Amino acid sequence: MARALVRLLTALLLLTPAIAFAQKAPGLALTPPMGWNSWNRYGCQIDQALIEKTADAMVSSGLRDAGYVYVNIDDCWQGARDRHGDIQPDSTRFPAGMKALGDYLHRRGLRFGIYTDAGDKTCAGRPGSQGHEFQDAAQYARWGVDYVKADWCNTGEGAAQRNAREAYATISRAIAASGRPMVLSICEWGRNQPWLWGRDYGHLWRTTGDITNCWDCMVGHGNWFASGVLAILDQQDAVRGYAGPGGWNDPDMLEVGNMPTPNDDRSHFAMWAMLAAPLIVGTDVTALKPEIRAILANSRLVAIDQDKLGVAAMKWIARPGLDIWARPLADGRWAVALLNRGDAPKDARIDWSAMALEDNLKGRRADFRAMTYSLTDAWTGQPAGTTATPLQRMIAPHDTLVFTLAPA
Ligand code: GLA
Repeated sequence: MARALVRLLTALLLLTPAIAFAQKAPGLALTPPMGWNSWNRYGCQIDQALIEKTADAMVSSGLRDAGYVYVNIDDCWQGARDRHGDIQPDSTRFPAGMKALGDYLHRRGLRFGIYTDAGDKTCAGRPGSQGHEFQDAAQYARWGVDYVKADWCNTGEGAAQRNAREAYATISRAIAASGRPMVLSICEWGRNQPWLWGRDYGHLWRTTGDITNCWDCMVGHGNWFASGVLAILDQQDAVRGYAGPGGWNDPDMLEVGNMPTPNDDRSHFAMWAMLAAPLIVGTDVTALKPEIRAILANSRLVAIDQDKLGVAAMKWIARPGLDIWARPLADGRWAVALLNRGDAPKDARIDWSAMALEDNLKGRRADFRAMTYSLTDAWTGQPAGTTATPLQRMIAPHDTLVFTLAPA
């Protein structure tokens, strides 16, 4: 009897740390998450019918099968808390409730994502999770949620601002306590260097403020501003070393399909793939133009993004108006992207044998004098010569060429 009691107590003691420190679900987001989110295209104008027809379109367009499995409902789905304090959806917009919506997604082989905020209100003024973290995570688990994006609005100002790390640690523990594995997307806009601590609690963390659908602009919104693709891209090289399996830098969701020109769409997608960024589609997939579908579903670009090494690209060469980015891939391969930042066509040349391609951060080196690589154009799948001869290409304004290099 006494021995049984000791055994029981020992087992409990051994379990305690596991319970107290249980945190983010392991084995999730080993490659950058892929899916769709309502915000970039629809903002607050969302409802059950939109999410359902989007889910149908994710399947019929082939995007689900290309890897885009998460369907994430952003801000404005919330109604009020009920008398137990449990969060409930806005019942006019989501009349069947969130469990039914989750089932709808799961039946189609999709996963269910939802949005909340670390503060007491979301950015759009709906109820946030502060003080209700465990209760909300338990509710999400009952609904079958697979992915939680947690925003950073209304977390206080100046000295009274919440400690970001502590706030996201609480959400992470709440998800763990719910017993349902969920991807945690930390959306605190890079304010508190989430790349330094985000991996402990979540699976992706925003590195910047919000994206907007322009090439090179800043759009003011009073006390904050949104940035175009180039401004966001230019903030990624410095933090590239923090991305990797299980934890990704998030340069924000895709505006592919919403950009002013097809070249802008192509470059935005190519560079996000080079960055090993989460690929969260933000356009109307129920009316997807064939050329936008072709960009999003390009299997070679997606494979670069999803490469199992999980190393984000470095800015290898910067010339006036021309960026050349490179990232090592699994099996001794590389990806190289040439981005024309400017408004005029640009002649680009890479004389491989005259340079070294070296990723010091990750200890990878391509010595083109000692080894020849064959090039494949990632957009078309066509062979594009070898590194034995220089690469020479004219790049259209705002366009990006991508090549994969494989040991010949
Ligand atoms: C913030 C986030 C966006 C979006 C909106 C919703 O701006 O950064 O991605 O979720 O809030 O209100």
